[in-house]
Amino acid sequence: MTSLIRSYGDRSLRSLVDLDRGLVSREIYVNEDIYKMELEQVFTRAWLFIGHESQVPNPGDFVVSRMGEEEVILVRDRKSHLHVFLNTCRHRGMKVCRYDDGNTLVFTCPFHGWSYDTDGRLVGVPYYDAAYKGDMDKSEWGLPEVAQMSNYYGSIWATWDRSAPSFEDYLGPYADTVRRAFQSSDGEDNGVELFNPVYKWRIPCNWKFPGFSFDGDRAHAAMTHRSINVAAIGPQGDANGGSRAPIRAPFPYSDYEMTTPELGHGGHNAIYEQPGVAPYKDTWFTEPGVDDYFRETRERKREKYKDSYIVGETALIWPNVNIQPHRILLWHPHAPGVTESWRAYPIDRAAPQFVKDAQRRYMMRYGGPCGLTESDDMENWNYASAASVGTVAKRYPYNFIMGAGHAWTDDHAAPGMTLNYEVAEENQRSRLRRWLEFMEAGSWDDIYPVNPVSTARADATKAKSEA
Ligand code: FES
Ligand SMILES: [Fe+2]
Repeated sequence: MTSLIRSYGDRSLRSLVDLDRGLVSREIYVNEDIYKMELEQVFTRAWLFIGHESQVPNPGDFVVSRMGEEEVILVRDRKSHLHVFLNTCRHRGMKVCRYDDGNTLVFTCPFHGWSYDTDGRLVGVPYYDAAYKGDMDKSEWGLPEVAQMSNYYGSIWATWDRSAPSFEDYLGPYADTVRRAFQSSDGEDNGVELFNPVYKWRIPCNWKFPGFSFDGDRAHAAMTHRSINVAAIGPQGDANGGSRAPIRAPFPYSDYEMTTPELGHGGHNAIYEQPGVAPYKDTWFTEPGVDDYFRETRERKREKYKDSYIVGETALIWPNVNIQPHRILLWHPHAPGVTESWRAYPIDRAAPQFVKDAQRRYMMRYGGPCGLTESDDMENWNYASAASVGTVAKRYPYNFIMGAGHAWTDDHAAPGMTLNYEVAEENQRSRLRRWLEFMEAGSWDDIYPVNPVSTARADATKAKSEA
């Protein structure tokens, strides 16, 4: 176990995170040594979201992404295979790609001119014959490539750890949630594209503020987002009380906090009392014609899923991404008190342009650096961070007590999931538990097998749906 934090005397990490009592030291959100350990222990081991294949449809297409603090390039090579490379030259470290996206035959380093093919091979070195005189084997000096990459129904994920489990095992019962998030609104797999470019901006808070609480902090909504409904930013305008979310047809369900504590994933999700998908309810009153499109696609989806019980429509996938059907929220660590926040928006690839435009306008009103809803959240995370760094402030632990000891499981309705009342801090405790496991682990051997119980339960659900 990695037990000592130099700047915090002899207190072990475990003593800073007391999950039985729901008390967590502010130190883990502000301490620089702990932050550096996270980059190593969490961000070089976990599966991280990189992007989507729609961002690089043609050979030579690339888009720059990020894993932890480090920049990576998602690129489609000449044979149409996808790769994720660290964006650093093997000669003296210069970024070999200085654009957010584009198309190229080779990545030529701007420093001394080494060139790398789109499959990562070093193919050009100035003065190679005259100056190196055969002393360097180019095949040993390609771009560093991730240890594992997964193309999961069009979404691209990667890890630097060769011993990490398969991506599907890593997701456990949330595998279906991630799969569905990349379906088009008629329920077809890999049916979306992402708006390019993604939103990127920095916020002055630790990455765990959003990364651990998003989709796991329903208690904040009534207070934090009070003003949003008054502003009526939802697609329905003033109708339905100006709600910020689309209108839903009645479909019997109950809301819960759901989580897989063994994996660190979780979300706020519904358990439906009947199979199938709710009928469509008109909601785009401010955007004529859009309802016609979504009504028609919903009917096709209803037919496809008429016998399935859908559990888990959104999820925060450990450690730093929230996956929703129309929104992907990423929080990259940038410094102990700085997070680089990214938003990517999936939209039906086959949708007419006016539908895509309507969705984009709604998302711009809703999220991102100037979206009204997420500005409310940022305000809280940022000021909470600033008010947690003081010498005296750090003597007072954060309170994660809500609902502790009141969770239950329901193998029939939500196999593999731990449930709690719809307003709880179960998800946040799950993430803190997984955080501790990653921070203490010497390797994946200490945190694997991932979750044999919940994986078996997920298989059982699948069988139930298919029966
Ligand atoms: S740093 Fe890239 S060629 Fe020298
Ligand atoms: Fe919020």
